[in-house]
Amino acid sequence: EKGTYSHFMLKEIDEQPFVIRNIIQKYQDEDGDIKLDQDIRAALNDADRLYVIAAGTSYHAGLAGKELMEKVAEKPTEVHIASEFLYNEPLLSENPLFIFISQSGETADCRGVLVNVKEKGCQSLTITNVPGSTLTRESDFTLHTYAGPEIAVASTKAYTAQMAVFSILAMDGARAQGIHSDFNAISELGLIANAMETLCDQKERMEQVARDYMSGTRNCFFIGRAMDYHVVQEGALKLKEISYIQAEGFAGGELKHGTIALIEDGTPVVGVTTQQHVNANIRGNIQEVIARGANACIISTEATKEEGDTIVLPNINELLSPLVSVVPLQLISYYAALHRDCDVDKPRNLAKSVTVE
Ligand code: F6R
Repeated sequence: EKGTYSHFMLKEIDEQPFVIRNIIQKYQDEDGDIKLDQDIRAALNDADRLYVIAAGTSYHAGLAGKELMEKVAEKPTEVHIASEFLYNEPLLSENPLFIFISQSGETADCRGVLVNVKEKGCQSLTITNVPGSTLTRESDFTLHTYAGPEIAVASTKAYTAQMAVFSILAMDGARAQGIHSDFNAISELGLIANAMETLCDQKERMEQVARDYMSGTRNCFFIGRAMDYHVVQEGALKLKEISYIQAEGFAGGELKHGTIALIEDGTPVVGVTTQQHVNANIRGNIQEVIARGANACIISTEATKEEGDTIVLPNINELLSPLVSVVPLQLISYYAALHRDCDVDKPRNLAKSVTVE
């Protein structure tokens, strides 16, 4: 039930800190160590390459998941859009492990891939919010995201939960292979939950940003680099699906190769910057669009006033930044849709689970 909330989407955005804390509890044993099925550990260990298969928002979680698996567990990882993989299969490694990410566990495009790779004898793991769903029944292993039912069509808490589970898998993978890593998913996730809470408490600010940047606009650009590139793709999808504003998530350095032609006086551009090593680059990209008239807003772990409005994020582990930077993006989309009188929880033309190819 919605309780005092006007929409499920807002309720589900607010639930994210609790979901993350719930995940910490579920995946931790009495000694504070990660509790993971031995067979999953073995499958991950044995695999020479991971193939992450997903659609929509879950695909965006997979993009961040790849970074975690490669940077923490040193596992080569590819991420594929399920419907593309289905009819245009890439060359597979000798011993692949397939990881399906699906909130519903019912997405037909994912299931199509699962059927094909099972025929080849490949192992499969599903990360899902619905145990007992088709993908869990048909794959070898399952990891549950414990986000609770997600009712709003636009996915929010399932996305952050998927990345949280990935971080646990990555940390466990590193340990199982004897890789030294300072990355402690459990303690980092605790900090993430607090940071999410801080941002959920700034709804008035997010509503104001939606008003200042999104009202009356036909289009909107989101830019980021590295991890922030992944999260801006999700930010753009959120805005598109519920407010019907045309939005694009771009790699900061790619704008100048064509898309910058679309920037006019007043075009909203939201830049996300949480990654130290590319901070200066993305700020440069923001300056480039401002010089062409863009109305720029920056979501950053560093407060500066040079590039227009700034939403300041609490300091967070860079590898987990999308879990936190997505919160303002979700809230801005929510308010942008609300201001346009859109049906936030049930956007036109969309279904919660897509069981047709
Ligand atoms: C966007 C959204 C969709 C789903 C996609 C995959 O907010 O909800 O893009 O993420 O249809 O669905 P699942 O995760 O159920 O496989």
